[in-house]
Amino acid sequence: MTAKSDLLKFAIKTAKEAGKIHMSYFGNISSLENKSTNIDLLTNADIESEQYILKSIQDKFPHHSILSEEQPELKKNSEYIWIIDPLDGTTNFVHQLPVFSCSIGLKKNNETILGVVYNPAANKCFYAEKNKGAFLNDKPISPTSSDTLSECLLVTGFPYKHDEKYDLLFSIFKDFYDITRGVRRLGAASLDLCFVAMGRFDGFYEYGLMPWDVCAGEIILKEAGGIISDWNGANKHPSDCSRVLASNKFIHKEMSDILLNEKYKIFIDQNNSE
Ligand code: IPD
Ligand code: CA
Ligand code: CA
Repeated sequence: MTAKSDLLKFAIKTAKEAGKIHMSYFGNISSLENKSTNIDLLTNADIESEQYILKSIQDKFPHHSILSEEQPELKKNSEYIWIIDPLDGTTNFVHQLPVFSCSIGLKKNNETILGVVYNPAANKCFYAEKNKGAFLNDKPISPTSSDTLSECLLVTGFPYKHDEKYDLLFSIFKDFYDITRGVRRLGAASLDLCFVAMGRFDGFYEYGLMPWDVCAGEIILKEAGGIISDWNGANKHPSDCSRVLASNKFIHKEMSDILLNEKYKIFIDQNNSE
C-alpha cells in the first residue's frame, strides 16, 4: 500500500467523524422530514453530519468548492471540488438497517482524484486514490472474475420518483432476475458500488442517481479494477449519473445489452435524470 496523501487522510478522518454523528442518532432519530416525495426522507443525522463535513472542509480548505446533497453548491474559484453525500441510505438508517454510509469524493480539474465511503455501523472504510488501488480498512480489494450473468449476483436501486418509467424499472429488474443468481436492492448506492469493487456483487445498475451518490464509489470501483459507464457502455460524463452501469468488467457488455433493449428506449432517449 502506497502512503495516503494528506487529502485522503483528511477525507477518511472526516468521513469517520461524520459516521460517529450517524451512530449517535442510529435508533434515536429526533427529527424526520420529507424531501422530494413522502418516501424521500431527511433526518437530523443527514443535516448534522453534513454541517460537520462542510465546516471541516471550509476550515481546512477555504478555497475549495463543495457540492453536498442537502446544500446549494458552494462555488469557489478553485480547481478542487468536494462531492459529498453526508448520509447515503437514509431510508435504511431510519429503519435501523445498518446499510448506510458517508460518501466523500474529491475532483481536481473535473477528474475524481480520491473517494471515501464509510459504513459506520460495520466500521468499514472503503477508499481509493487515483492510480493507487482501492482498499477496505487498509486491505486491497478487487472485483470478481465471473464472466457470465448466470453465475452472477447483481445489485440495483430505484428512484424516489414513481413516474412513467417506474414499471419499466421493475421489468428490467425481472429481466436480470430471470438470468442471474439474483438481484438485491440494498438502499445505499455508494455501498452498492463498493460491494462490486470488493466482489460481493458482480454488477450494479441504477437509473436517476446524483453525483454525490456516485463520485466516491466510482473511483473506488475503478481503482479496484472494475468499470463504470452509461447504460450503453460509453464513458459517462462525471456530472451525469442518470444511467449508471458498474461491473467487474467481464459482464459489462451482457448487462448493457439488456439495458439497451428496445423496451427501455425511453431511458436512453432522454439525457437527464428527473
Ligand atoms: C439513495 C440511495 C439509494 C438509491 C437512491 C438514492 P439517499 O440516496 O443511494 O440506494 O437507490 O436513488 O437517492 O437518499 O439515501 O442519500
Ligand atoms: Ca444518496
Ligand atoms: Ca443522502
